[in-house]
Amino acid sequence: MDNQEIRAHFEPAVSNWTYLNAAACGLSPRFSKAGCETWWNDKLTNGSVNYHTWEDDALEIKAKFGKLINAEKEEIACVMNTSEGLNFAINGMDFKKGDNVVVNKYDFPSNFLPWLALKQKGVEIRLMEVMNNRIPVENVQKSIDENTRAVSISSVQFKNGFRSDLEAIGNLCKEVGAYFVVDAIQSLGALEMDVKRYGIDILCTSSYKWLLGPDGVGFLYCNKDILDEISTTNIGWMSTPDPWSFPTELELMKTAQKFESGTLPWALLYSMDPILDFFHKVKVRNITEHVLGLLDCLIEELEALHVSIVSSLRESERSCILVFDVKNREKLAELYQSRNVRISLRDGIRVAPHIYNNEDDITRLVSILKEYVGG
Ligand SMILES: Cc1ncc(COP(=O)(O)O)c(C=O)c1O
Repeated sequence: MDNQEIRAHFEPAVSNWTYLNAAACGLSPRFSKAGCETWWNDKLTNGSVNYHTWEDDALEIKAKFGKLINAEKEEIACVMNTSEGLNFAINGMDFKKGDNVVVNKYDFPSNFLPWLALKQKGVEIRLMEVMNNRIPVENVQKSIDENTRAVSISSVQFKNGFRSDLEAIGNLCKEVGAYFVVDAIQSLGALEMDVKRYGIDILCTSSYKWLLGPDGVGFLYCNKDILDEISTTNIGWMSTPDPWSFPTELELMKTAQKFESGTLPWALLYSMDPILDFFHKVKVRNITEHVLGLLDCLIEELEALHVSIVSSLRESERSCILVFDVKNREKLAELYQSRNVRISLRDGIRVAPHIYNNEDDITRLVSILKEYVGG
């Protein structure tokens, strides 16, 4: 599929907007609605007669998500969003007084606040030091010791696009036997992910950013080797091996399905089905290449204009987010908004292109910037 063909799936949004805001919310392809309609058509025609087919399809959708991160379907639970997944995992860990967890204040609140709540259990909260918008591995290492039970970080930092060295951090966790938890919402769908290679124990995401899906559905990955160790308080009939026997004894699924208490958001999950097929067809590495190519054009223009770039430009620390800054950035953001250009204000102007963007989008972004800085 060439870019033109891909853009057609994202009409009319790609024509209405210069949409460079996947880090807030990605555009969804038209076929995601068709996926959702598959379920609605069945529901309108047959009520819930095919309920067991929906259950089987949900497993297949989890398998497709699992393939995207190199995990098995038994390791995937359907959740509402990243925050919910993180809470399930964090609250399922068995902490004792004197344990510590290593996190950072620079992460999104959902990957910081639930960790802070562990203070009540006598857990020490250790902060990784952030230096010039970066968290080098040495800074993570400095905070880890034999009492570290978990290390958590975003795969890509939401304010400035810094990409974490997941493999190195995963190795540090392995050395001390700490759980490695990753909030992957800012990279899944834009950067390749391999939970086994990076030694990730828990990974959480929503679907509505780089995964191009609807709001209200996400995924929790839990490494099968630790599924037994992570307990759940989110228990219902669907957490059990035989829900249709309406059990009265507490026996939980041996898979990540134990985190699912009840009926799944079928319509939202069905929307994800063709989107996951799309990612497998187009291949995430091609998406990365496309987006980094667009960002290379932007970087060249920013350097020519002497505009400050906030994001790290080290090859291994780059992601699909690029942040630059100007004087009175709010005014530039307003100008962009008034010209139908969608970006976000974070540590500067946050630009987040996806597979549906093209060079014209970057040209338009830059021409408004030139007008603003008088270049
Ligand atoms: C790194 C990161 N984590 C989590 C979230 C939000 O999580 P949720 O999926 O719970 O809405 C965001 C939203 O911007 C984010 O950037």
